[in-house]
Amino acid sequence: MASANATYGQKESSDQNFDYMFKILIIGNSSVGKTSFLFRYADDSFTPAFVSTVGIDFKVKTIYRNDKRIKLQIWDTAGQERYRTITTAYYRGAMGFILMYDITNEESYNAVQDWSTQIKTYSWDNAQVLLVGNKCDMEDERVVVSDRGRQLSEQLGFEFFEASAKDNINVKQTFERLVDIICERMTETLDNKDPTVTGAKQGPQLNEQPQRSHQDCAC
Ligand code: GTP
Ligand code: MG
Repeated sequence: MASANATYGQKESSDQNFDYMFKILIIGNSSVGKTSFLFRYADDSFTPAFVSTVGIDFKVKTIYRNDKRIKLQIWDTAGQERYRTITTAYYRGAMGFILMYDITNEESYNAVQDWSTQIKTYSWDNAQVLLVGNKCDMEDERVVVSDRGRQLSEQLGFEFFEASAKDNINVKQTFERLVDIICERMTETLDNKDPTVTGAKQGPQLNEQPQRSHQDCAC
């Protein structure tokens, strides 16, 4: 375990140096903080400026978890409605979703149910979802109390975190918990010899390689 902890968080030395690859998507209304959340996690950076994402982009981060090197391919989607056709095309094969709302924005909370329906419509059945109420540093401007987030997450069957990309609260924890529940689900399905987890049916390949078209790239 000592070596596992020492390795955790290091940059990958080789692109192929991993046991599993998990494709994760961050979804939710525009301006809830999806891009900021990913930048905090992948680069430990934050900028107060709002540059709305165009289409979709991804970052890669390799972590050491459950004695495995896990390469995370994290897709940051545009929240704006006009990009919905592009972004939903990327749901297929995702093993995990971070569904985000902004605790200072009622509309973004009200949209969670619709985002959840989008996941059910476009993604793999076994995809795991975490609900995140972002911007919990803005307590004075809060309009969605924690209990409402918790209740909605229970109703939808998701786990729930409040987080702040700005103050780096629960960002790493969110990704690590999502990775853990994907691993748990994978173990369960492999134990049950469910072929979906190996990609034999419509499920994703664990080492599926990213495909990013320059047209869709936000950079
Ligand atoms: P789209 O790309 O349009 O879908 O938006 P997004 O969800 O990626 O939002 P983005 O990360 O660009 O953040 C929107 C604004 O909220 C920016 O001005 C960020 O600086 C700010 N922001 C993001 N996360 C936080 C946070 O945790 N706390 C505070 N106070 N501001 C945040
Ligand atoms: Mg964005």
